Amino acid sequence: MAISKFLFLLLLFLPFSSPEFVPSDIYLLSCGSSSSPTFFNRTFVGDSVKPASDFLTAGRSVAVSNRNPPPDSEPLYHTARVFTSASSYRFNIKKNGTHLLRFHLSPFSAPEFALHSANFTIWANGAFLSMISRVNDSVIKEFMVRIDTNVLEIEFKPVSSTVFGFANAIEVFSAPKELITDNGAKLVDSYGVREYYKLTSQILETKYRINVGGSLVTPFNDSLWRTWVPDEPFLVLKSAAKVAATFHAPNYQAGGATREDAPDSVYMTLQQMNKENSTLGAKFNLTWNFPLESNGAKHLIRLHFCDIVSSALNQLYFNVYINGYSAYRDLDLSSLSFHQLSTPLYVDFIVDSAGFGNIQISVGPSDLSSSFRYNAILNGAEILEMVNAKDMFSEAEKKKRNLWVIVGPVVGGFVGLCLVVAAILALGCKRRKKRKPRRAESAGWTSVQAYGGGSSDSKLSRGSTLATSFGPNGYHSLKIPFADIQLATNDFDKSLIIGSGGFGMVYKGVLGDNINVAVKRGVPGSRQGLPEFHTEIAILSKIRHHHLVSLVGYCDEQSEMILVYEYMEKGPLKKQLYGPIVSPLSWKQRLEICIGAARGLHYLHTGFAQGIIHRDIKSTNILLDENYVAKVADFGLSRSGPRLDETHVSTGVKGSFGYLDPEYFRRQQLTDKSDVYSFGVVLFEVLCARPAVDPLLAREQVNLAEWALHWQRKGMLEKIIDPHLVGQINPSSLKKYGETAEKCLADYGIDRPTMGDVLWNLEYVLQLQVGIQTEPLEPVDIDDSDFPTSTAIHPSNLRRHSDESTGNYSDISTTKVFSQLLTNDGR
Ligand SMILES: *[C@@H]1O[C@H](CO)[C@@H](O)[C@H](O)[C@H]1NC(C)=O
Ligand SMILES: *[C@@H]1O[C@H](CO)[C@@H](O)[C@H](O)[C@H]1NC(C)=O
Ligand SMILES: *[C@@H]1O[C@H](CO)[C@@H](O)[C@H](O)[C@H]1NC(C)=O
Ligand SMILES: *[C@@H]1O[C@H](CO)[C@@H](O)[C@H](O)[C@H]1NC(C)=O
Ligand SMILES: *[C@@H]1O[C@H](CO)[C@@H](O)[C@H](O)[C@H]1NC(C)=O
Ligand SMILES: *[C@@H]1O[C@H](CO)[C@@H](O)[C@H](O)[C@H]1NC(C)=O
Ligand SMILES: *[C@@H]1O[C@H](CO)[C@@H](O)[C@H](O)[C@H]1NC(C)=O
Repeated sequence: MAISKFLFLLLLFLPFSSPEFVPSDIYLLSCGSSSSPTFFNRTFVGDSVKPASDFLTAGRSVAVSNRNPPPDSEPLYHTARVFTSASSYRFNIKKNGTHLLRFHLSPFSAPEFALHSANFTIWANGAFLSMISRVNDSVIKEFMVRIDTNVLEIEFKPVSSTVFGFANAIEVFSAPKELITDNGAKLVDSYGVREYYKLTSQILETKYRINVGGSLVTPFNDSLWRTWVPDEPFLVLKSAAKVAATFHAPNYQAGGATREDAPDSVYMTLQQMNKENSTLGAKFNLTWNFPLESNGAKHLIRLHFCDIVSSALNQLYFNVYINGYSAYRDLDLSSLSFHQLSTPLYVDFIVDSAGFGNIQISVGPSDLSSSFRYNAILNGAEILEMVNAKDMFSEAEKKKRNLWVIVGPVVGGFVGLCLVVAAILALGCKRRKKRKPRRAESAGWTSVQAYGGGSSDSKLSRGSTLATSFGPNGYHSLKIPFADIQLATNDFDKSLIIGSGGFGMVYKGVLGDNINVAVKRGVPGSRQGLPEFHTEIAILSKIRHHHLVSLVGYCDEQSEMILVYEYMEKGPLKKQLYGPIVSPLSWKQRLEICIGAARGLHYLHTGFAQGIIHRDIKSTNILLDENYVAKVADFGLSRSGPRLDETHVSTGVKGSFGYLDPEYFRRQQLTDKSDVYSFGVVLFEVLCARPAVDPLLAREQVNLAEWALHWQRKGMLEKIIDPHLVGQINPSSLKKYGETAEKCLADYGIDRPTMGDVLWNLEYVLQLQVGIQTEPLEPVDIDDSDFPTSTAIHPSNLRRHSDESTGNYSDISTTKVFSQLLTNDGR
């Protein structure tokens, strides 16, 4: 139940222009052909002649062709290559990550070979994909495979020396980087629902791809050239369902699904409850049954939703069941989609088909809806099997192969993909090609999830030996030779990987005189994300602060994009809050971390002639060093703030779901108050030790900001705090903390405090917790009405620790007070 895009990843939302998806790697081969036939207007190059014949690197094979192809049949299917011994194709791969592999199998009878009787297996970089025998119809077998090497080797192996394998065409192309992600999928079985990780390392074979309530979608209408078939044949009780459709294009939102996840036409149609049929009663489920081999394999079920039936928000609440288990209770599309109707999103579930022999998907109304509004919808469904050779092939066989592709721990098997190609062709060929504009595949430095940054070595914070010489006019002296980086990371040794993101990998490294560093390396050769790369260098090279992760250097030799940061031993704050926690942080530690991060942010906002807005504050971007000192990381999204009289910077909305300032989202205007909002969410995250958005929780709890504000306003915040903190927090400290976080989450930026105010208040919260030491000039407790931005404070109003104040403040702006604090404290 992942709303992967949605929840855990960076938003790369370009509201108005979205260029077509262009894969970095793409190979389309017509097997056994010396011409270049087209298929859905894509040209497949014949592998019998140069240059495509060079891909064929090993084995014995022959080209065959169909002498009497049926009229109207696809030229792509008039030829095939027959593999009489284990044979392989090798493709150079430029981009690491998930790739789509498609094998077109359309048997015909050639004089020497009746292709129907082929019996063979297909492998990718030594990992088993599929076993194929007796192909009767045209099928396209599609796989998603993660490739982390520079080469993809596809191998066809006849099962014995007396049989053969074949293929008519092969497609290999890189997927958009967020198509399959490691976060957000939910495992559903008799034990309940829980997180499932490592989805990207699984090999997935497409079994069904369904456009619910709609018609056949051909590769013409899909940016990844997929085929979506109608759901009718799978509906258990057809009379229970009613189609709904819209003519309006979906309302794509940051963090929701994109056109690469499913095309418009999937989101523009759906099935809903047919309430006109009174024989069914008020409450009933819509159920689809998808036959599968009961081989015990796990399956990824991706369900696509887009509420095109409600007339207003918060009308539709429904339940999702898979194989009879409750998979998602009270699904509320309004709250998951930024409170906008017609917003596409998807949810990922992992289930196993063992004992069922099929997968059953149901949706039915939730008790949360008023009974006259009972409804449930589904727009699209994909069922992908996790393939693994484990039980089919011996260990010995596996050992001698070079396992490039990482294979997950599940059982393999195969069922033909239910794609009858002939039907597609009949419909598809008549269509005009005119694909909708699409988002560019962005390999941004923007989605940095690196933790690594932050030094154990305080030398670095002050400008280390490596970084001392950067001058006022540039950062060239921060350049590090590629050879040094190779040395530091043991030539990018996999075992040193400490993080990853869309841009590539983060390695731990040791530079020069034993300085621990985090090395963030963009996908070599790809210059996507170059602007962010330079932004990050430009910004980071100018700033040094104890609470900001320092840039040690960078490398742009040989079309590399590498950033080297101080290393942060304890990783992201999030991990220390609700990762696999070793020892929970104390309240005092948490406050110190919040204060540190607030200091870093305050410095960004004010420490420059031209302030910097971070734009992506969240618990994964606050890193901790070995002493739990917090440092703010990831400036890839940063933009310099307003100058002089401008009060905002208008820019494409970026940020992370659950942390995004609603005002920023509405008006697409960025101010430093957007960071304050996100920081408020972090404050509650720290207190409650739960994610900003958790779709597994009951509807009203999903969004932490809403949930925590609800309790804060009732004055009962203690009800939802991290159980580890119970009994630890001084009530006045908690009260002040709750108020501070609440202020940060004000709807309008103008009502939110500055980071300086937040910092001040957090210092006060800490004092309330630990008690006052000698002669403190206690921070002012600013009450509700005065709290916001422009409060001025007079020194005489800085009171001793006592009760709440109603002081009237004048003379010295908070900012000035803070700059003093900072001069002492921030380095
Ligand atoms: C394919 O080969 C396997 C292994 O030799 C065998 O078990 C199977 O019966 C064969 N299938 C067909 C349809 O010949
Ligand atoms: C193809 O047809 C044969 C004989 O009719 C049948 O045994 C076999 O299962 C079919 N193969 C597939 C993949 O449907
Ligand atoms: C992919 O990653 C592997 C190690 O994880 C590395 O050796 C290889 O060079 C990378 N390839 C590309 C194109 O980034
Ligand atoms: C109503 O549903 C029943 C099955 O429960 C079905 O037999 C009947 O044909 C349906 N009526 C209409 C008008 O769809
Ligand atoms: C819908 O299906 C689920 C799972 O099979 C079942 O528990 C539930 O009672 C059904 N709801 C209705 C209204 O039939
Ligand atoms: C496919 O290409 C042909 C010839 O270039 C063109 O006429 C046709 O409109 C294209 N079809 C689509 C769906 O783009
Ligand atoms: C597919 O695309 C064509 C041309 O872009 C359009 O006319 C057609 O309606 C689309 N089909 C669907 C199902 O959206």
